Amino acid sequence: MKFNVAVTLLLVSLVGIAIQGCHGKVVQFIFGDSLSDVGNNKYLPRSLAQASLPFYGIDFGNGLPNGRFTNGRTVADIIGDNTGLPRPPAFLDPSLNEDVILENGVNYASGGGGILNQTGGYFIQRFPLWKQIELFQGTTELITNKLGKQAAEFFQDARFVVALGSNDFINNYLMPVYSDSWKYNDETFIEYLMETLEQQLRVLHNLGARQLMVFGLGPMGCIPLQRILSTSGQCQERANKLALSFNKAASNLLVNMASKLSNASFKFGDAYDVVNDVIRNPYKYGFNNSDSPCCSLGNIRPALTCLPASTLCEDRSKYVFWDEYHPSDSANELIANELIKKFGFLDVNSHAPAPAPESAIAPSPDE
Ligand SMILES: *[C@@H]1O[C@H](CO)[C@@H](O)[C@H](O)[C@H]1NC(C)=O
Ligand SMILES: *[C@@H]1O[C@H](CO)[C@@H](O)[C@H](O)[C@H]1NC(C)=O
Ligand SMILES: *[C@@H]1O[C@H](CO)[C@@H](O)[C@H](O)[C@H]1NC(C)=O
Repeated sequence: MKFNVAVTLLLVSLVGIAIQGCHGKVVQFIFGDSLSDVGNNKYLPRSLAQASLPFYGIDFGNGLPNGRFTNGRTVADIIGDNTGLPRPPAFLDPSLNEDVILENGVNYASGGGGILNQTGGYFIQRFPLWKQIELFQGTTELITNKLGKQAAEFFQDARFVVALGSNDFINNYLMPVYSDSWKYNDETFIEYLMETLEQQLRVLHNLGARQLMVFGLGPMGCIPLQRILSTSGQCQERANKLALSFNKAASNLLVNMASKLSNASFKFGDAYDVVNDVIRNPYKYGFNNSDSPCCSLGNIRPALTCLPASTLCEDRSKYVFWDEYHPSDSANELIANELIKKFGFLDVNSHAPAPAPESAIAPSPDE
């Protein structure tokens, strides 16, 4: 039976080569809030942050609500599509299992979630970032049970996206109902957020994350909700200043962490400037409205959410904002293209450069 043994050995080594040579695809693990949620809150029955009614999702797939808080794609959807990455399903999607994770990654993002546990408390149910990281730890255990030592490689190659922060202001610090609004001032609150974010990113690094991107904040003082609350209809400059301070602090934090953590490509990028310009000069970018939601309940504003009773704007691609809080698919495309430039994303699975964004300003020299 010598022959059989030899064949078996040969097969074993071939299988070994196959596994080694093809250690799976590059996938994404996404941590975020409603700007990145693809359906987790749909499965949180008591959550008040929901995108489960028409007309959410009207420009996506079959046009029915799918859990995204916009009419079409999220920024993370578009970045993934343009860089050759599969779209990760929501963590709570009942079809999620080890094979799906190895093929597609996981999206833990949850509407209403923040960097801080207490953020968005009045939504009752949502995953704050700490909770999302706990869920990811469970994922690493599941995959390690399946792949053994090769799990480390799978996570090293994966792309991690962390995109939270606006709720920590809009649904926490800037609301007087939260103790954070009187315990801190602008500067100390941002320090508190950065200390928390640093701990969270360290935990992700300990769990094996190496390619990690943090998305910064846009001009959140200009979302329709903030304008309507300002009586003059103008952007709330205080909220915008906070977003800029957050971005600056997070950028410094990421530079600092990337230099200290082993093998870590930890980066920060934001689209503040381009979104600010779109809001101030919508026509220049092909938009026709940058101050009110496409989906609204007539004159009843702010409407908390888009509803079947709402009316839609005539041309959804011409509105920067879909509802009181969230950008439209067209605006998300612009934001995604800006972030692709900022991060110097390459098409991961073919190693060809990502397609050039249409409205390219000067290509950024960083990487
Ligand atoms: C935040 O919540 C997590 C549970 O998800 C808990 O382990 C952690 O201690 C909390 N952190 C703080 C600062 O409250
Ligand atoms: C960094 O990554 C390389 C290649 O994956 C690995 O050989 C090395 O041990 C890592 N270094 C540290 C300090 O983890
Ligand atoms: C913008 O919208 C207004 C009213 O909604 C419409 O009258 C106007 O023609 C639109 N302009 C462009 C450039 O689409």
